[in-house]
Amino acid sequence: MASENHNHTSLQTRSVHAGEKPDKVSGASSPNLVMSSTFLADPEASFSAEGSHGEDDFFYTRWGNPTVAQLEEKLASLEETEAAMAFASGMAAITGLFFYCLRPGDHLLLGDVIYAAVSETAGDLLEDLGIEVSRVDTSDLEAVSDALRENTRLVYIESPCNPILRLTDIAAVADLVHERGALLAVDSTFATPIATQPAKLGADFVVHSLTKYLGGHGDAVGGAVLGLEKDISAIRRKIGIRLGGVISPFNAWLILRGIATLHLRMRAHESSALAVARHLEAHPAITKVTYPGLESHPQHELASRQMSNFSGVLTFQAKDHARLPGVFAEKLKIIHYAVSLGHHRSLLFYIPTDEILKTSFQLNPEQEANYRSFAGDAIFRLSIGIEDPVDLCADLDQAFQSLNPSS
Ligand SMILES: Cc1ncc(COP(=O)(O)O)c(C=O)c1O
Repeated sequence: MASENHNHTSLQTRSVHAGEKPDKVSGASSPNLVMSSTFLADPEASFSAEGSHGEDDFFYTRWGNPTVAQLEEKLASLEETEAAMAFASGMAAITGLFFYCLRPGDHLLLGDVIYAAVSETAGDLLEDLGIEVSRVDTSDLEAVSDALRENTRLVYIESPCNPILRLTDIAAVADLVHERGALLAVDSTFATPIATQPAKLGADFVVHSLTKYLGGHGDAVGGAVLGLEKDISAIRRKIGIRLGGVISPFNAWLILRGIATLHLRMRAHESSALAVARHLEAHPAITKVTYPGLESHPQHELASRQMSNFSGVLTFQAKDHARLPGVFAEKLKIIHYAVSLGHHRSLLFYIPTDEILKTSFQLNPEQEANYRSFAGDAIFRLSIGIEDPVDLCADLDQAFQSLNPSS
């Protein structure tokens, strides 16, 4: 049987091999898809989540599953954490982490710009449960230090953050958070382990929406929390088994297959995103392009230090922005006007600043000004797929041309 531990090999090799085990019965080289919801049990097995079910035995798919376990092992290997637990979605992973870490009276410090649904959940559900929530621009270390409280239990950030692509110095924030006795969770969905490994920079938890780059093909929703074995096994017991938001083995199998090409795809996403970003920077209809790989990104130095791949999402601002969503939805032939990111297919979506500030973030005037310095009145978030960037630029150009046919 082939080796099961590839931790001495490079990320590239681990994305292909880590976690995958040839089938013991057939010798099949590719990961098995095991859809069974239940497994023949040890007569001593307990019916409770707290009970023993044998170290390597599977019991019921909400407890664990052979296909899901291969995905979890691969993820932990890529992020270099002790363990990982896969969830039904990124949101299930994130809310699972919140339920695991936070109790009434605790303070949750959030990055002030993060995926909208996370901000909305914290400001709505968590506050209703008696958890204090506040927000800080985590790219400002002094502000983070000032925002930490006696009862801060968890600091939760994204880098680069959705949707404005502002970065946080993860190692510096981890030091601050740990000095004050709190825990740091980093949603690294935009970066992927190919670019940044937050646990190696000091994060206690790493979170992913597997729906994005890790799955990579826009056909499977999933999420994951990674960290120490003791925390992940408690999360599995208290959150996975009891709240039940576990991933389907079929989605785990698709995502496992997607990850095998992660390093190749990330290289293609990055080089195409840079080409499209440079093209858009020179386009007369565009007023600003933000991409961590551009020298013009205000944190390009941090991006170069913290990201070994600038990933594939860029944003742009345009002169006639309010008319453009309709034009793009109708005229784009290759790029899909749709939410999400990290797929092999390019995706574009319009995010007007006033609306997202109102619906999703609760920012003070200084934080709003900082948001606007990245986003102006509106951004288009463009997730560059693995198509030829020449075709993507031509697709965008012909859509802009239809705004002003005589030019
Ligand atoms: C940064 C980030 N985290 C988490 C999520 C939620 O992931 P999912 O859609 O898999 O629940 C998203 C979704 O867009 C996201 O962009």
